[in-house]
Amino acid sequence: MVTIGVVGGGQLARMMIPAAVNLGIDIAIFSETEGSSAKLATTHVGDYTNLDEISEFCKDVDFLTFDHEHVPLDLLKTLADGGLPVSPSPRALALVQNKLVMRRALGDLGLPQPRWAEAADESELPGAVESVGGFPCIAKLPVGGYDGKGVRVVTELDDLGEWITQGPVLIEEKVEFRRELSQLGARSSSGEWVSWPVVETRQSEGVCSEVIAPAPETPAAQSADASAIAKRIAEEVGVIGVLAVELFEDSDGQLLINELAMRPHNSGHVFTELSVTSQFEQHLRAVSNMPLGSTVLVAERGVMVNIFGGVDLNLASRARSEYPEAKIHSYQKQPRLGRKAGHVVITGLADANLLQTGIAIRDILNQRDYDD
Ligand SMILES: Nc1ncnc2c1ncn2[C@@H]1O[C@H](COP(=O)(O)OP(=O)(O)OP(=O)(O)O)[C@@H](O)[C@H]1O
Ligand SMILES: [Mg+2]
Repeated sequence: MVTIGVVGGGQLARMMIPAAVNLGIDIAIFSETEGSSAKLATTHVGDYTNLDEISEFCKDVDFLTFDHEHVPLDLLKTLADGGLPVSPSPRALALVQNKLVMRRALGDLGLPQPRWAEAADESELPGAVESVGGFPCIAKLPVGGYDGKGVRVVTELDDLGEWITQGPVLIEEKVEFRRELSQLGARSSSGEWVSWPVVETRQSEGVCSEVIAPAPETPAAQSADASAIAKRIAEEVGVIGVLAVELFEDSDGQLLINELAMRPHNSGHVFTELSVTSQFEQHLRAVSNMPLGSTVLVAERGVMVNIFGGVDLNLASRARSEYPEAKIHSYQKQPRLGRKAGHVVITGLADANLLQTGIAIRDILNQRDYDD
């Protein structure tokens, strides 16, 4: 029997569980807390920065992967040196743990990205801003940002506040993009690469809010370009597992890389219903030396709408009875304002009003009180 170990007990680990069941393999999850999203398959609750605890967990697993990128690299190197297949490898993960490392690596590969600079301290800020074209620009914390929390539009140096006293900051040109896209694919240890069609992502206040797949009105050359960028990164960096490449389409239609993820990604949730193989199944296949699955689409179009705050079962029931064609996923998280709590996917014909329907369902689910 094969057991895949997953570090992290969030919704991504949760959604790997049915994929493992369908593949006929076991999954063991290392969660940070009791009662996490992934509690159904959690075998260890502990601290993922503690080598002893992770090593204990790994005694019962054949392959190790993640639902987040925060496990210290030296700890992963120790496990990999001990013979455990760790995917993606510590070398690949280094790029998604630190946005400065990522920008440098993408630059070395000559891949298209926004102009960027590192400001190591306050004295380097004016030069960094100048080199990306001046204000307004974007400042990012290199480590630990998510859901737009480490990203700020900066119109004057004071906007950086305390950030610059905490360590280096990544400064980027503010791209006047036409739209944002995301290219997902997976690479297996044998070097096989399979991708899904590029999708359009819409963010609200820096957080992914809706996804349309495939991205509407996308010229074939642009789709090919997106997929070639992702494949090149996967091969050059040696990614094993799912790779997501967030992209900007600039005003000339050119693609620029925003950031990477080396695990299933919010922009790929739509493929659970839209594709023969979900991103969760593909990730498990890739990290455990299985052949990759088909990414053929089973409908013309799919949309994914994120649900924030919480998913109330009664409201979900109402939405399910009004829209039986929709799939409403709940991550079983404690409700909290603004928190990604679930998502809705609807698939159908390209000219159907899928996005409007998805948003109507979100409106039903949003009629809840936040007394917490
Ligand atoms: N250089 C840029 N120019 C214009 N907009 C940007 C730029 N960088 C980021 N943004 C906007 O901010 C959003 C969040 O940025 P980014 O993806 O880097 O942050 P994050 O917190 O890591 O996001 P995630 O939610 O994907 O983890 C982007 O989707 C985009 O809308
Ligand atoms: Mg992002």
